[in-house]
Amino acid sequence: MTEKTKQDRVVIFDTTLRDGEQSPGATMTHEEKLEIAEMLDEMGVDIIEAGFPIASEGDFEAVTAIARQAKQAVICGLARANFKDIDRCWEAVKHAKRPRIHTFIGTSPLHRAIPNLDMDQMAERIHDTVTHARNLCDNVQWSPMDATRTEHDYLCRVVEIAIRAGATTINIPDTVGYTAPRESADLIRMLIDKVPGADEVVFATHCHNDLGMATANALAAVEAGARQIECTINGLGERAGNTALEEVVMALKVRNDIMPFYTQIDTTKIMNISRRVAAVSGFPVQYNKAIVGKNAFAHESGIHQDGMLKNAETFEIMRPQDIGLAGTSLPLGKHSGRAALRSKLNDLGYDLADNQLNDVFVRFKALADRKKEVYDEDIIALMSDQASEG
Ligand code: KIV
Ligand code: ZN
Repeated sequence: MTEKTKQDRVVIFDTTLRDGEQSPGATMTHEEKLEIAEMLDEMGVDIIEAGFPIASEGDFEAVTAIARQAKQAVICGLARANFKDIDRCWEAVKHAKRPRIHTFIGTSPLHRAIPNLDMDQMAERIHDTVTHARNLCDNVQWSPMDATRTEHDYLCRVVEIAIRAGATTINIPDTVGYTAPRESADLIRMLIDKVPGADEVVFATHCHNDLGMATANALAAVEAGARQIECTINGLGERAGNTALEEVVMALKVRNDIMPFYTQIDTTKIMNISRRVAAVSGFPVQYNKAIVGKNAFAHESGIHQDGMLKNAETFEIMRPQDIGLAGTSLPLGKHSGRAALRSKLNDLGYDLADNQLNDVFVRFKALADRKKEVYDEDIIALMSDQASEG
């Protein structure tokens, strides 16, 4: 690994408890939110977006309690671009050792039409609300919602206004998962190059996964100069979700040779929090989900199992232990070969000669054709049938 420098550090902003919880059906209880926030804090997440304090009394109380509980992480709350939202947000996050206000407004033509503000009126609103937030808190994040569908000139103009008004982080949301990696990078590069004062703030990337490109878009933005990734555990979030924390963190770790950036996440805590978020949100993780899916470190086919038994690097690019799993799994099924069966038999205490193994293998294949997965008990039963017949 190359030497780490401050410029290569990527800040992880987790929004499982805000954007993740906004996913229809993913509501969590107060206690569950506190538990997840504690786990995020312990795994080294830099900023926890704990909720949207004006949205409900429950959200306000959860953000307040998380702010009081947090040990290391910055605690952030979301606020629309009005003084009432911002004041309510501050009331909740001010209890944190390190509070942040995150205020946003939709800047694309489609979103400008909703509050019916013209470009100048919106620019003035941005100036006034960011100034107000900054008067309350010295850590202010501003987001132009639907940035990736906002006219570039206007985006540069409003980003400059937000910086001048005191924003310390500028987040560039791909609200509807519309961008693609090259465009995501170009947008960040353009803002950094063109906007006066850009070098005084941190640029963040906030991607949604509607076209399945959230992780690629976030990493492309980092390569172009963004230094904060907004993400959620298991990619939980509106519609197709947000960038998955485990994907960007492991991508930066595994491919550090071509993406020389680092985070402070303790990756061995990934599996635990993934399971807990799945349980409390009620959103199961798909079996083939990158990093945390049940099959992410499982190999059934004969060729793969044989390779894995000889050298784990043949079919695994990271160690299961790095995300907190005990090890690889080699489930036995109809695609498995003799090597995996022999290894399983050895684990179960059987040591067979080649001709005995051949007999068991024939029976095993017949069973595997009838069953999706062959368990240890099935193998033990096969062995006792073999013994009684022999
Ligand atoms: O996707 C989005 O635009 C958001 C903003 C509130 C940052 O979640
Ligand atoms: Zn979002």
